Amino acid sequence: MSVTVRVPAKVNVQLAVGAARPDGYHDLANVFLAVGLYDEVTVTPAESLTVTCTGPDAGQVPLDRTNLAARAAELLADRYGIDPAVHIHIAKDIPVAGGMAGGSADGAGALLACDALWSTGASRQELLDICAELGSDVPFSLVGGAALGTGRGERLTELPVGGAFHWVFAVADGGLSTPAVYREFDRLNEGAHVPEPVASPLLLDALRTGDPGALAAALVNDLQPAALSLRPSLADTLAAGTDAGALAALVSGSGPTTAFLAKDDDAAQQIAEALLASGTCRTARVALAPAPGATVL
Ligand code: C5P
Repeated sequence: MSVTVRVPAKVNVQLAVGAARPDGYHDLANVFLAVGLYDEVTVTPAESLTVTCTGPDAGQVPLDRTNLAARAAELLADRYGIDPAVHIHIAKDIPVAGGMAGGSADGAGALLACDALWSTGASRQELLDICAELGSDVPFSLVGGAALGTGRGERLTELPVGGAFHWVFAVADGGLSTPAVYREFDRLNEGAHVPEPVASPLLLDALRTGDPGALAAALVNDLQPAALSLRPSLADTLAAGTDAGALAALVSGSGPTTAFLAKDDDAAQQIAEALLASGTCRTARVALAPAPGATVL
């Protein structure tokens, strides 16, 4: 018997970053929006814990115990005294190391799939706690929709969304390391006063009303200067999407994927074509938001 879970990517529509904490993490006001690009994680009983991955970027995915999907299976098994003898297969469609929480999605997906396979009876809160232990973005991959993450991003408050938003994602060549982008954020802000991160009321309103123009005006990513500093060519990608009619353009999370908000589906298709033709990205993907969280198929 196998269990398959489908789990979405995310874009941060607001990523407000505070000063580095003593533990090295940063307090955030992190407004997550789940988008309709998905990985599928399938778990099957096996002799021992193994991971395989297929998809266009599968070669970049670690298949050892550092993979968040493997760690999720181990953590859940540990907690319930189960032998984590499963084969985990990841059908990967979310860009790898792209700032779209693809690794976090696989962690949340494997956790939900193993939970169903082993019938642990874990509560939703227990699953969320394990997600938070796996990584700051993992709880959101389980929940989906839209949510405000505080603390290091793992404490979630679900947010209402009043409509569908049309997005285009430009996938860059190669990834960016999230810790490296946060370190660059610290370097760029050295000696400066970094304000406490707070959620923008205008942005929360724009989500609630489903108004793409209002959301475009409120999008903000405090990690964008750091991502651009490490990867200056991303400015060309942002400009190409804006020239093609995007309502707004920003780096997705820690990058290097860039995100473009479009007024409707036609505009999104046009922006995607223009981005591809510009030669400033490897591929461009159109996706709708919000998307549901991790779901057993
Ligand atoms: O929590 P996670 O393992 O996904 O975080 C990866 C890295 O990103 C951390 O090691 C840290 O360098 C950085 N980070 C941070 N502040 C956060 C979340 C992540 O500095 N709120």
